[in-house]
Amino acid sequence: MKINGVEYRTIWPDARCRYVEIIDQTRLPHFFEVQRLDSLDAVVHAIKTMQVRGAPLIGATAAYGMAIAMLEDDSDGYLDQAAEALIASRPTAVNLRWAVERMVSRLATLPHTRRNFEAWAEAAAICEEDVRINRAIGQHGFEIIQHLARQKGPETLNILTHCNAGWLATVDWGTALSPIYMAFNEGLSVHVWVDETRPRNQGASLTAWELGRHGVPHTVITDNAGGHYMQHGQVDMVIVGADRVTKTGDVCNKIGTYLKALAAFDNKIPFYVAVPSPTIDWAITDALREIEIEERGQEEVACLQGRLANGEIAQVRVLPETSSAANPAFDVTPARLVTGIITERGICRPGEIADLFED
Ligand code: MRU
Repeated sequence: MKINGVEYRTIWPDARCRYVEIIDQTRLPHFFEVQRLDSLDAVVHAIKTMQVRGAPLIGATAAYGMAIAMLEDDSDGYLDQAAEALIASRPTAVNLRWAVERMVSRLATLPHTRRNFEAWAEAAAICEEDVRINRAIGQHGFEIIQHLARQKGPETLNILTHCNAGWLATVDWGTALSPIYMAFNEGLSVHVWVDETRPRNQGASLTAWELGRHGVPHTVITDNAGGHYMQHGQVDMVIVGADRVTKTGDVCNKIGTYLKALAAFDNKIPFYVAVPSPTIDWAITDALREIEIEERGQEEVACLQGRLANGEIAQVRVLPETSSAANPAFDVTPARLVTGIITERGICRPGEIADLFED
């Protein structure tokens, strides 16, 4: 995506494949800072602290983490150690394990001398695939938006989204936001309700930032306001991303998605989930029992981060000193509340994902 006229992706390797650079998402929306990751530890840290986040980008970053690890030590022992460290960095988004296992199966049988070169090539291939997949999701999702816009007539189509599933959450284009960008680029009149997405505010700080950069009309709302706007006919469609989807169509995404799905269901509003195929976990069927939900630090709930009048970033505590907080980062939306799944291969009912990926 373009920033001040310059094409950017969220992660890119240096020309001689010695390190990668990322957009540090903990500094957005107030500061656009590029961070260099030149060690396995730096990559693990970037995923844990969410300098990079979003399931597809976590996967792509982990793939480059394996490549950087092969620069540090291309032994079998370090290959396993690097894989373990990366997979342990965050538990819920399946793209992380998918990417690391793909790298290990590509590298494990290679002579040590070939591992470094092949690792950078494979990580780059994962990134190119991600961009291709997201564009395809954009095309398929655009057809849904066009259909709903035709049904609605000349008025603006109001789309609600939760968290950030835009280009910042992927290598480029995004998943849930990709159809919105395509609709906007095609001149359709769209407006996006952006859930702030407490406690880390990915909606308020990242989705609003990237939509704003692209000129897409949007309004940030509290997470609790979406149901109200649905009841008053001001939401025509909901589209969100996913961190892990079962083959039966249960969807794990950012905490609060389930409540949005319930409100949409109650108000008969189509609820779509954009799912790149690496986000499908073919090994599980019972999402509530089998998906590990990341529990993050309570300080993310107890405090809020923002910019002071003097431009500095500050953190303020909103909870009484004596109160503790809980902070589950994701929840599960059962397939029965999902209207459709948008993949790179097309759109399907939640229970029909396997039909789209028979091969
Ligand atoms: O905790 P985060 O910011 O990594 O959570 C991100 C989400 O829940 C996204 O909706 C999901 O990863 C899809 S990103 C295309």
